[in-house]
Amino acid sequence: MAALYIHIPFCKKACHYCSFYFTLSTVKKAEFIEALCKEIQNRSTELKSQTISSIYFGGGTPSLLSYHDIDSIMQTIYKHYKISENPEITIESNPENLSDTYIKELKALNINRLSVGVQSFSSIDLEVMNRNHDAKQAIDALKLARKVFDNLSIDLIFGLPYSGIEQWQTNLQLAMELDVDHISTYNLTVEEKTALARKVERRELPLEPDYTLNNMYLHTIDFLSNHGLTQYEISNFGKQNFWSQHNISYWTQLPYLGFGPSAHSYNGEERRWNVSNLKNYIDAIQNNQSYWEKEVLSIENKYNEFVMTRLRTIFGVRIEEIKTIFGGGFETHFLKTLRKLEFQDWILQENNTFKLTNSGKVLADHIASELML
Ligand SMILES: C[S@@+](CC[C@H](N)C(=O)[O-])C[C@H]1O[C@@H](n2cnc3c(N)ncnc32)[C@H](O)[C@@H]1O
Ligand code: SF4
Repeated sequence: MAALYIHIPFCKKACHYCSFYFTLSTVKKAEFIEALCKEIQNRSTELKSQTISSIYFGGGTPSLLSYHDIDSIMQTIYKHYKISENPEITIESNPENLSDTYIKELKALNINRLSVGVQSFSSIDLEVMNRNHDAKQAIDALKLARKVFDNLSIDLIFGLPYSGIEQWQTNLQLAMELDVDHISTYNLTVEEKTALARKVERRELPLEPDYTLNNMYLHTIDFLSNHGLTQYEISNFGKQNFWSQHNISYWTQLPYLGFGPSAHSYNGEERRWNVSNLKNYIDAIQNNQSYWEKEVLSIENKYNEFVMTRLRTIFGVRIEEIKTIFGGGFETHFLKTLRKLEFQDWILQENNTFKLTNSGKVLADHIASELML
């Protein structure tokens, strides 16, 4: 099994926190779709006829694409790849694009999972983030989407300036009332070279202290599990049968191809990333030139990625798997380092599988780095 990721690099407005690759101009949209379809076609031999179980449109803002844009991408994929009988097909969307007609068009394109970038149900929060929608648009979009999509996910960000635990609780409560199946929830990260980073440096925006962020996170775990959503990864919660197969394929080291500018690919041996520039991407594809860089993974790299990703998931790190995949030396290193962490209430062991406790999840990156080589 393998997965496909398609990066759509267009946005209407630059959110102040965002460092993903996007451009505000759609002038090159037609040329982009053409180049993208060419990349999809050119790379079909890379997966050596493996079956695709997940297709994911991410961005940027994929919901800026028209029915016909998505249709031509899907047709190219289906023509050149072997797709499983019941693939998960996800599209990320922004609430302001989700009219009744557009939602139905997405469904007619066989997209079966809709992910909506809500971020917050507070219009003040949304303004601070420089989002292109307000709270009402988010609620209206989710009500419409709920009627059409069986698998509905939202993204929420916590730790926003001026937005405390009460607003966060309101966000979680509303998400439950709107009956979403899945929530990805991220702690606000101040990324370099963003408008948010500049404002924080100039002390124009206050950030929440760590203990408030930790409380918000631990409260989220409690609240969502009491409402039937399982935390299957540090930042992801889903009802039973609604865990994102695409995300899981990343965390369980399945191969995937990433198409479009800035998209990453992985084949078990190498990571490859496309140029983060739309013009260079289009020009290179049109002229059959190279547009990516790659890194060959050492066994240490693979072990580190394995430990980090598994530890973040509900599956945990199975000690036999370390031994089978990487050998006894890696198993010894893992167990020896683990002993140093043993007295902290961070990791629990179930049938030779190691998982993070809730207090361990708060420190996941630190714990993973201790266990890595
Ligand atoms: C790259 S966005 C693409 C989705 C879509 N364009 C949107 O904005 O809703 C994917 C998600 O990453 C999260 N995200 C991006 N930058 C972040 C940051 N600096 N801190 C926390 N979450 C972030 C947001 O929740 C966002 O919905
Ligand atoms: S968060 Fe989404 S909509 Fe905002 S700039 Fe980033 S990719 Fe675009």
